[in-house]
Amino acid sequence: MGADYQQLSFKSAESVADQLRGKPDSCFGLPTGRSPLGCYQLLAEWSAAGKLDWSQARCFALDDYIGADESRTFQAYLDEALYRHTNIPKDHCYDPLFVDNYDRLIADCGGLDLAMVGIGRNGHVAFNEPGTPRQSWAHCIWLTESTVKANAGYFGEERLVPRRAVTMGLETLLGSKKLILLVSGEHKKEIIRRALSGPRTVELPASFLQEHPCFKVLADFDF
Ligand code: PGA
Repeated sequence: MGADYQQLSFKSAESVADQLRGKPDSCFGLPTGRSPLGCYQLLAEWSAAGKLDWSQARCFALDDYIGADESRTFQAYLDEALYRHTNIPKDHCYDPLFVDNYDRLIADCGGLDLAMVGIGRNGHVAFNEPGTPRQSWAHCIWLTESTVKANAGYFGEERLVPRRAVTMGLETLLGSKKLILLVSGEHKKEIIRRALSGPRTVELPASFLQEHPCFKVLADFDF
């Protein structure tokens, strides 16, 4: 783990911890993938040491695969990386695979206070792939070839990656009170630059993050 990644993990974990301390009943939108693993490791350590109280918090996975083996769902990922190391009640951990109307549920819980998102090499944010309209709510999608390839490592082989997934929409993510884009790896430099400084376009869903009034980018490289 490089020093830059450690710093990224620390800053993102601090942001989550600050949110939780400031508002113990916060609603979080949480990503999966490689980038947030260090962040979750720190949060898990701080929680196990009794420094964080998740008893009133609610966590919403941003997305999940449809048809994945149970151990490979993002629900399982988040449970292993974070939930089981905290005192969050099991019934406060939500996943779009298991909820009929994710947007209604999020709204009924008061809306997201902090959403942490990643970015795909093709500019997707959560599983909002290129072509996703700005006005989108939770929906099912077909993963693009580029996303399937990028996530092959998680399944061992590309042919085992499910082609369908369910995701929070851009509308829901942009409705979060705070938004953090967490990015690890120089291979994301080009797409980050385009997303942050180029025109807003459905071809690059992450470009809509520019609209958010309380948006922070945390990366382990200069861009
Ligand atoms: P990564 O995935 O953190 O594994 O790079 C991010 C994403 O594809 O959204």
